[in-house]
Amino acid sequence: MKNYTSINDIENINSWIEEAKEIKENPLKNIKLGKNKTLGLLFFNSSLRTRLSTQKAALNLGMDPIVMNVSGDAWGIEFGDGTVMNGNTAEHIKEAAAVVSQYCDIIAVRAFPSLTDRQKDESEHVLKSFVEFASVPIISMESATGHPLQGLTDAITIAENTTKKRPKVVLSWAPHVKALPHAVANSFTQAMQKMDVEFVIANPEGYNLSKEITKDTKIYHNQSAAFKDADFVYTKNWSSYEDYGRVLCTDPTWMITKDKIANAKFMHCLPVRRNVVVEDAVLDSDASLVIEQANNRTYAAQLVLKKILENN
Ligand code: CP
Repeated sequence: MKNYTSINDIENINSWIEEAKEIKENPLKNIKLGKNKTLGLLFFNSSLRTRLSTQKAALNLGMDPIVMNVSGDAWGIEFGDGTVMNGNTAEHIKEAAAVVSQYCDIIAVRAFPSLTDRQKDESEHVLKSFVEFASVPIISMESATGHPLQGLTDAITIAENTTKKRPKVVLSWAPHVKALPHAVANSFTQAMQKMDVEFVIANPEGYNLSKEITKDTKIYHNQSAAFKDADFVYTKNWSSYEDYGRVLCTDPTWMITKDKIANAKFMHCLPVRRNVVVEDAVLDSDASLVIEQANNRTYAAQLVLKKILENN
């Protein structure tokens, strides 16, 4: 594996989960693997978990992480080919990616979608430009359409917490005050499709994710029907895909409550808006796995870095 930009880069999710669990048991076992190697983390958008857990993962492998908030601190980057750069952008991605490659052995990039131009967002022009113009491996720390480090984390967390051979996992939309990307829901769906679980999605009418992602996954527009006998309820808001980037529904009856999830474990990638997406009684209960998920972000990132270091 040269790059990790999608859940589809995982050849065998079960063996990856087992390897991640081994890393978690002994995180410093490969402390010499990344000696004298530098990981560059480039953020076009905000982060708490991804920023810290990916640095922690690099440190556990003996790497030196360096971080840059690209949007605030770097020159404005131009991605268009053949553009006459007489506007606000000062540096082309062709030079920027090549230059960062001189300082870093692996580059990790976070770049969210516009949520205004579906075709452009789906082209993944930022992430794909780094893959094209950098001379070192690229890791997605969340792109326009995917969050594969989060999806891998979530697969590890479900495998660790299941008491059944084939648990029922529900991905449920929940309300939110802002229009949010589809990336987490997309990567979670792709990860669940690779696992031996009964996986269904619950979302209001008008909120179906891309058919390219959901494929044959059963979609309910009735949340309580979807939640019947659930072992894991994974919650995330996303804006409409069909009416791209718009908020069509803020119905509070879709908020996750203790009564609704019954005996299921609750999962969310965080950050989460309390009492909008999910009530306090869920997050403050033993049913919540959100802190364990955040912890597992380190081991998912460490597994990906380890595989790239070993293969390059
Ligand atoms: N879950 C997640 O990616 O968190 P951050 O946006 O804080 O990195």
